[in-house]
Amino acid sequence: MKFDVLTLFPEQISSFFSESITGRALKDGLLQLNTVNIRDFSKDRHNSVDDYTYGGGAGMLMMPGPVYDAFESLKVRPGTRVVYTTPVGRVFDQSYAEELAKEDEIVFICGHYEGIDERVIDKIVTDRISIGDYVLTGGELPALVIMDSVSRLVPGVLGNGESGADESFQDHLLEYPQYTRPDKWLDMEVPEILLSGDHAAVDEWRLEESIRITRKLRPDLYEKWAASHEEYFIKKEKKARKEAEKERKRLKKLANTENL
Ligand code: ADE
Repeated sequence: MKFDVLTLFPEQISSFFSESITGRALKDGLLQLNTVNIRDFSKDRHNSVDDYTYGGGAGMLMMPGPVYDAFESLKVRPGTRVVYTTPVGRVFDQSYAEELAKEDEIVFICGHYEGIDERVIDKIVTDRISIGDYVLTGGELPALVIMDSVSRLVPGVLGNGESGADESFQDHLLEYPQYTRPDKWLDMEVPEILLSGDHAAVDEWRLEESIRITRKLRPDLYEKWAASHEEYFIKKEKKARKEAEKERKRLKKLANTENL
């Protein structure tokens, strides 16, 4: 996977990306990062890339020319996804990350000031992406967020011990809580079932925790999950009925022995 990032602050991108898991993937050649400084494509002697907004209003806007020339310098294959990070965009989520991870090259354009002249966005951008309903000072952090979540879906980027399976948002559920040693810390203990060695019981506990937490913290996600997991509720109802029947039999037996 190759990322090209058009930005006024290339070091912000490269310094974050060259550390930790993404840094290792760069060294291993699984990822490639190419940053381009938009300012290098300024046409005037002050190296300016922004100007006042037509129609008035506070703040400056990035001019279309330097952004376009920076993009053209990449010479990417026609059809390459070109992402503009902006609060006025489709909200990013795990399924969007999965969609982008299928590409082999993605271009990011990071805006600053009040944004970028609309004409160059209309001309070259394929995806306007927001990372949430709040406003940041620039598009670098959103680009890094998107690149990070896409990178970990690229085969080989996560090591064996860093498996992406079973994690939050898989199938709309949030991840269950996890624990490591020591089994007793301060006055808190690891849930007993996790020490039992009973894998089926552990799986069931984890699923129940995921459902409970999702329902409490993200009712919107819970509704999506519940709508596509009718079989879970049927199974649960069957189990409850079986247990009620067992209890009824136990009480009947008890009454019979008392009557003897
Ligand atoms: N630029 C500024 N704020 C942003 C946001 N929330 N998402 C994407 N790009 C942005």
